[in-house]
Amino acid sequence: MPRKVSYGVDFDEEYDAYDDYHDDYDYNHGNGIDENETAWEPPVTKEEIVYQNVWRCPICTYDNDEYMSSCDICGVLRNPLIKSSNNGQSSTVDGICTNFGASMMAKSLFTSLPYESPRGGVTVNFQPQKDDSSRKEDTFSLHVHGKFHDLHNAIISEKSYKVNIAPFKFDTPSPDDVVSLGLKSYKLGSKVVPNLEKPSTSDAPSNKKIENANLKSNAKSSNKSPPLISKDKPQHMENNNMTQTHKISSEFNNMTMSAESGTSKIANKGKMGKTGITASRSQYKPEKWMLLDEGEDRLSQLNLAIVGHVDSGKSTLSGRLLHLLGQISQKQMHKFEKEAKLQGKGSFAYAWALDESAEERERGITMTVGVAFFNSKKHHVVVLDSPGHKDFVPNMISGATQADAAILVIDASLGAFEAGIDSAGGQTREHAQLIRSFGVDQIIVSVNKMDAVQYSKERFDNIKLQLGVFLRSCNFKDSNVTWVPLSAMENQNLVAPPSDARLLSWYKGGSLLEAIDAFQPPAREYSKPLLMPICDVIKLPSQGQVSACGKLESGALRNGTKVMILPSGDIGTVRSLERDSQACSIARAGDNVAVTLQNIDANVVISGGVLCHPDFPVSVTNHLELKILVLDVQTPVLIGSQLEFHIHHAKEVARVSKIVSLLDAKTGKVTKKSPRCLLSKQTAVVEVMLQGEVCVDEFSSSRALGRVFLRSSGTTVAVGVVTRVIVDDQS
Ligand code: GTP
Ligand code: MG
Repeated sequence: MPRKVSYGVDFDEEYDAYDDYHDDYDYNHGNGIDENETAWEPPVTKEEIVYQNVWRCPICTYDNDEYMSSCDICGVLRNPLIKSSNNGQSSTVDGICTNFGASMMAKSLFTSLPYESPRGGVTVNFQPQKDDSSRKEDTFSLHVHGKFHDLHNAIISEKSYKVNIAPFKFDTPSPDDVVSLGLKSYKLGSKVVPNLEKPSTSDAPSNKKIENANLKSNAKSSNKSPPLISKDKPQHMENNNMTQTHKISSEFNNMTMSAESGTSKIANKGKMGKTGITASRSQYKPEKWMLLDEGEDRLSQLNLAIVGHVDSGKSTLSGRLLHLLGQISQKQMHKFEKEAKLQGKGSFAYAWALDESAEERERGITMTVGVAFFNSKKHHVVVLDSPGHKDFVPNMISGATQADAAILVIDASLGAFEAGIDSAGGQTREHAQLIRSFGVDQIIVSVNKMDAVQYSKERFDNIKLQLGVFLRSCNFKDSNVTWVPLSAMENQNLVAPPSDARLLSWYKGGSLLEAIDAFQPPAREYSKPLLMPICDVIKLPSQGQVSACGKLESGALRNGTKVMILPSGDIGTVRSLERDSQACSIARAGDNVAVTLQNIDANVVISGGVLCHPDFPVSVTNHLELKILVLDVQTPVLIGSQLEFHIHHAKEVARVSKIVSLLDAKTGKVTKKSPRCLLSKQTAVVEVMLQGEVCVDEFSSSRALGRVFLRSSGTTVAVGVVTRVIVDDQS
C-alpha cells in the first residue's frame, strides 16, 4: 500500500486561505460499507456536492470563491456563461468525471468564433457497463455528440496567439551538466577538513537562528585561503576526470567554472561528529557485503516521479496502475470508491489510493508526495506521486528530487493543457524544468484524459508539437522522451494495448507499462561512503524507537552498522531496516528505506538531516557559494534578496549576500564581476547566507546533496549547484 511522505509544507504553513475550511465529514468509515463486497464498479457520481457562493471549476472540480475569475487551483478561466451553460445538458457528464470535457475557457473562446459552435459539442455521456471479467469491468461505452474537431480547431487557432509558449530559453536546465563541465577550471581544494571539536548535542538540531549580524556577510570567502588539507586534492583531480568524459550537448554546457570559485573549507564548526575522524571520500574502501553481488537476483530499483499540472490525473493514473498491477485489491478499491462517492468525490476514487489524508481527499488535491511500489519486468518501481498545486511545489521538490526518471502527466482536455503550459503559473512548465534540474533526463509524457478529447490524434499531435518545443528547450533529448496517449479513467493504454477503436486507429506505440520498462536502469554509487538524506522521521516513543526514512544516495547499510546523524553529529547504530515496507537485511544505494536506529536521542534525527558514514561526514553550514541559473523572473535577484532555499529535504530562508560574477552561458567565462542584479536566464556565481544550517556537499562530490532550488513568492526563481562551502571567519 502507498505510504505518504510528509515534507513539511502543509496548508497551515503555506496556504492560510484553507484555514477556514472545516472538516465536515466523518472519516471513520462508519458508513455502512460492506467490507465483504468485492465486486468493483467504476465510480459513478451523479451529483457532486455544490457549495454556496462558489463556482466549480470544470477541469479540476475545485470550488472557487464567487469573486475568482479563474480557477485558483488549475488556472482555468471562469466562463461568465458557466451558470447558464449549466443547464443539465451540455456540460454534464453523467458518470465518472463531471465536466471534464471542454473547459469553460474553451467554451468562451468557442462562443467568440464567427460561426456557430456545437453547443453540445463536447457532451460526453459515460454509461458504465458492468462486466464480470476483471479487465473489462473498467471499460465504458462513450457517446459523443457534436463535432469535437470543430471545437478543437477553434481552440487551436484562437489560442495560437493567446498562449505564450515561446520556447523557454532554459539554456542549462541541468545543474548536472553545468557542474560536470564546470569542473574543468574548478579550483582544487579541500572539502572535508577535520574539526576535532566535539559537537554539543544541544545545538544539534537545525533551524538554529543566526544573528542578524551574521547575515551582514562579514564572512570571508575562502577563495584566498589555502586548502586546509592538501591531501584532498587528488579527490578533486579525480572528479575532474568527469569533465573529460562528459560530452558537450548544448551551448551552455561549455560553461566552465569561474575563477572566483576558490578552494573550499569545511564549515562544520563543532559539528563534525563525535568521532572526530574524517577522511577524503576517495579514500573510502567499501566492504564486500556492500557491493551488489553479480549473481544477486534483484530488479533494478527505479524511483519514478509522477509530476505535472494540478489535476492532470497524476494520482488517478498512479492509483489505476497500482490497481491493475495487483497492488491494490478489488476490495480496497471498492472501499475507496464507496467512500469517495459518499463525499461527493466519486471521480477521485483511484486518486484516493495515493491521496490518503482527509484534507487531500476533501479538497481533491494532493498535498504531499505519495509513495507506492510495483514491479515491472525490469524494474522495481517506486512511484512518487507529486502534488501538482503550485502551493505544494516545495513538497514536490523534496520528493521528486529522489527521482531517477519521471512521468510528466498532461491533461489533454481543452483548456487544461493550455493552463499547464502557460508561462504564468503553469505547473507543467515548472515541473518539467525542475525535473530536468534534478538530473532526470529520461521521461515519459503521458497525455492523459484522451477520453475527454475523443482520443483525437489531432489533439495529441498538437500537444506533442507544442510541449516538444518546450521540453527541448529544457534540454531533454527527443530520444529520451516517450509520448504515450492514454486515459487513466478509462484504462486505455496503461498496462495493455488500447481497446478503444479511436485510439487504436492511429496509435501504434507501446503502453505506459512498456514505456516504463524501457527506462534505463540508473547508475548507483554502491562503492561510495554512506549518504542518506532524511526525508521523513517516524518516532515510536513508547518503544523508544526512531526511524529515519529516505533514499540511500550512496553506500550501503545493514543491521549493526554505525551511522552518523547530521547535523548533530551523533552516532547511532542501525537496529533494523525496511525497504518498501518489508524488513530487509541489507539496503544499498538507490533503495528507499526506513532505518530504525538505536543508542540515539530521537530528537537529533530530523527531516532535512543526513545519515552518513561516521568517517566521511558532509558539511553542515549556513554559508554557501552557488552557481545558479535564473529562470523566468518578474523581479531581478539582488544582493539582499530573501529567497526560499531548498536542498534535498531541507528548506531554509536564504539571503543573497554577494553576487560574485555573471557568467557567459556559452563559454562559462566571467562576463562581469560583482553585477548589481540578476535577470531572467542569466547564469551567475552568488553567495547565500542561510538562516539555519543545512547538511550539504559540493555538487562535484554528491549530486544529491549539492543541488539547490531557490524560490520566491510561490515560484522557482533559480536552480543551481553548490560550488563551495564557505567558512566564516568568526575570530
Ligand atoms: P493534484 O495531485 O492535485 O495535482 O491532482 P492530480 O494530477 O493527482 O489529479 P487527480 O488524479 O486527483 O484527478 C483529478 C481529476 O481528473 C479527477 O476528477 C479525476 O477523475 C480526473 N481524471 C483523472 N484521469 C482522468 C482521465 O483519464 N479521464 C478523465 N476524463 N478524467 C480523469
Ligand atoms: Mg494527485
